[in-house]
Amino acid sequence: MTALLHTPPADVAAHPGTVEEGLERNLTVRDLTSLGIAAIIGAGIFSTIGNASFEGGPAVSLLFVFTAIACAFSALCYAQFAATIPVSGSAYTYAYTSFGELAAWIIGWALIMEYTVGNIVVAISWSDYFTGLLSGVGLDLPIWLTMGTQSAYLGYQAVQDLLASGQPITAADLPTQEAYRTWMSAPDFMGGKLVIDLPAFMINALITALVYIGIKESKNASNLLVILKMSVVFVVIAVGIFYVQPENWSPFAPNGIGGVLKGVSAVFFAYIGFDAISTTAEECKNPQRDLPRAMLYALVICTVLYVIITLVLTGMVPYTELAVGDPLAYVFTKVGVDWLAGVVAVSAIFAMASVLLVFQIGQPRIWMAMSRDGLLPPVFSKVHPRFRTPSFSTLVTGFFVGVPALLLNMDLVIDLTSIGTLFAFALVCGGILIIDPRGTSDARFKVPYLNGRFLVPLILAIIGVMVLLYNRTAINEFWSAVAWKGGYEEFKHQIPMLVFLISCVLLTWVSFTKQLSLLPVLGLLTNLYLMTQLGVNNWLLFTIWLLIGLAIYFGYSHKHSKLAVKA
Ligand code: ALA
Repeated sequence: MTALLHTPPADVAAHPGTVEEGLERNLTVRDLTSLGIAAIIGAGIFSTIGNASFEGGPAVSLLFVFTAIACAFSALCYAQFAATIPVSGSAYTYAYTSFGELAAWIIGWALIMEYTVGNIVVAISWSDYFTGLLSGVGLDLPIWLTMGTQSAYLGYQAVQDLLASGQPITAADLPTQEAYRTWMSAPDFMGGKLVIDLPAFMINALITALVYIGIKESKNASNLLVILKMSVVFVVIAVGIFYVQPENWSPFAPNGIGGVLKGVSAVFFAYIGFDAISTTAEECKNPQRDLPRAMLYALVICTVLYVIITLVLTGMVPYTELAVGDPLAYVFTKVGVDWLAGVVAVSAIFAMASVLLVFQIGQPRIWMAMSRDGLLPPVFSKVHPRFRTPSFSTLVTGFFVGVPALLLNMDLVIDLTSIGTLFAFALVCGGILIIDPRGTSDARFKVPYLNGRFLVPLILAIIGVMVLLYNRTAINEFWSAVAWKGGYEEFKHQIPMLVFLISCVLLTWVSFTKQLSLLPVLGLLTNLYLMTQLGVNNWLLFTIWLLIGLAIYFGYSHKHSKLAVKA
């Protein structure tokens, strides 16, 4: 029954370009690869890589490789699903088919973290670059119109606390001081202060309008933005290479494995997006052939670029200087190539706009799929008669990105994006293990089958030995916390790791007995592992988010779902 529910409406299966009512089929493999790159290269490489390099040093380039491998396992699973069920809902639809309605709802709910919350991060980051550029040409907006209320308030509080404790305010507190100044200079408003990030709101409104009026227009804009940002990335690499001083690569991992792993969230964030193209399945000319290819092409191209950029970045200046929000522009200012720093800053704006665009395309299409199944009200699957886009869902997405972007602090939402996405990726890998555990399906694209019976235990044993040899500190910390030496305070930080280790044992057992396909198992485990690195507080927030989702499911969706109605 679930498979039946996921056949797209009849018109969707019609010939390219001849659809009467559904979405418009316009995308080729080149467009899709371009959309993938549009979604991937953005705030991650233009901004958050700075802090990751500062924490981990040049070895962060290896973290990019490791994370790419983790994403590749997931991408293969996404690709098999996309070839099997070419419908707009992406991971939501895949979970519906493999696990059933409740799990699908949970995934759909988690995907809001990836798409809507992810876009809040990108919009705020876009605004930072944009206001920086404006002030570079002498146009200064009032600062209380360039920062989220929450960021300004946190800065105000932090400075108050420092003053109350009599501690000096140092140069390291510069961003806090800026936030404090913003709060103090803002006009009074309803008993508080009026501080909003207006550029973040405006770019979101613009992108929402573009996505509303058509997939063809969105595609053309995205293709143009991708050409622009790829050209800049190539110039950055080509020019930057001449300024690399190999001695900056030594020590390669100055803060050890722990330092490198602090960058997990930022690095993973940089890869998010390859999956977003699966939401356009009903707008592709040949989704079963083109979606798998495009996802893998986009991932490979971006991985190669990311690793080279990280090496160039950490080779141009000592890693200790990279804790800045605009590292790519910074390194060129540092070596005196100011014109290129300016070009990078301008292109960051285009790069991030393209990420916003693809995610803004993705979210409404997932809601559309959920609405078709009755889990959301029917208006969410309404297709605009003229523009042939999911119009209502597009506007709702615009609202839920735009309003929080006016108010929120970026750091608080970035980890939530990563944890929600990793969760979705893990379930997609798990989904393949359910629908095709031994790679025997006749899908047009399949995850290559390697028997995991002995390989899963062997690979985990090798990794275990390496951790024993090279990361004893982490092991000692783990045992001490699990033995309750530091009480609940220390124990709670190891809960994610405990969940991961239990999953390893269970999956090893099932792989051995059922000869599971190796790559989805590795995908599941790598995603779970990356989740362990995101800190227990994020797990807590994410759990609360899921509980709210469950309340909505049992309050509305379960009663209105098509499965319930048919039953
Ligand atoms: N990968 C996207 C970015 O880095 C989300 O902006």
